[in-house]
Amino acid sequence: MPKPVLLLTRKLPAAIEARAAAEFDARLNPQDDPWFRDGAEIARRAAEAGAAGILCAAGDPMSAETIAALPASVKAIATFSVGYDHINVPAAKARGITVTNTPEVLSFATAETALTLMLMAARRAGEGERMVRARKWEGWAPTQLMGVTLEGKKLGILGMGRIGRELASMARGLKMEIHYRDVQRLPAEAEQGAIFHDNDAGFLSTIDVISMHVPGGDATRKWLNAERLAQMKPGSLVVNSGRGGSVDDVALVAALKSGHIRAAGLDVYDGEPVVFEGYFGLENVVLLPHLGSATIEVRDAMGHRALDNLTAVLAGKPALHPVG
Ligand code: DGY
Repeated sequence: MPKPVLLLTRKLPAAIEARAAAEFDARLNPQDDPWFRDGAEIARRAAEAGAAGILCAAGDPMSAETIAALPASVKAIATFSVGYDHINVPAAKARGITVTNTPEVLSFATAETALTLMLMAARRAGEGERMVRARKWEGWAPTQLMGVTLEGKKLGILGMGRIGRELASMARGLKMEIHYRDVQRLPAEAEQGAIFHDNDAGFLSTIDVISMHVPGGDATRKWLNAERLAQMKPGSLVVNSGRGGSVDDVALVAALKSGHIRAAGLDVYDGEPVVFEGYFGLENVVLLPHLGSATIEVRDAMGHRALDNLTAVLAGKPALHPVG
């Protein structure tokens, strides 16, 4: 029996491409040619190949238009990400296409990235690194690049899902007090002492650092806007490793310039890979290139998870991690 055709939109770790080639009639993108940025081109390639499955990634434009243009042969779209705001899931469902993601395996790594941003922002690590690289460092000085400690500070986690809970457990090691805001309260055993807030104003006015872990999409669009930033205490820190669209960039730049927000750490951007111009002139913002889950171990695990889902669905079995 011929193997099902699988279209991979991106270059993936070697072990994942090898497995895809062994188990499917895989059409790889070994040079990461940027055709994946064009939904019509994804659909054209899927039709040309007669693809049964598509393995795509965060940011690929799997919009309603792309999905409408896919050939009838496509039965599954597996995204190499936990987030799936780049896929119009209802449009896929309406065409009988199963959509899957890669939850759990990346929670710890993504929390590590949030922690990195939080520490870098608090301790002015980006500024210091730039100073040394520019050969401008003239030696240790008592008042040089003083940041703030995280010890004893109140960390506010917006979105207490798996990643938020991993970050909470790391932050307890820094002796931070954990607060969280979510649509509903966790069971007590999962809270582990974290303090739940049922309203934005109380949450924002209590915390010293916000770490954002909410999905993208209309419901969270520009959630951290000028009004909410104003509710935070002067000198607070902002960290976002969730989705860029949940921050109002104009408002955050204004708050960083005025000093109301001491510093920010960002790993995600609205309209990636474009980064809002206003950030580039600021010393007090750390800008990472969407590194959230980027570890060797995790990217392999994500790849296996995506392939496990494709194998199941294309064999007529239920998906392991369906979304929507
Ligand atoms: C995800 O998995 O959603 C990440 O943001 C992509 O690395």
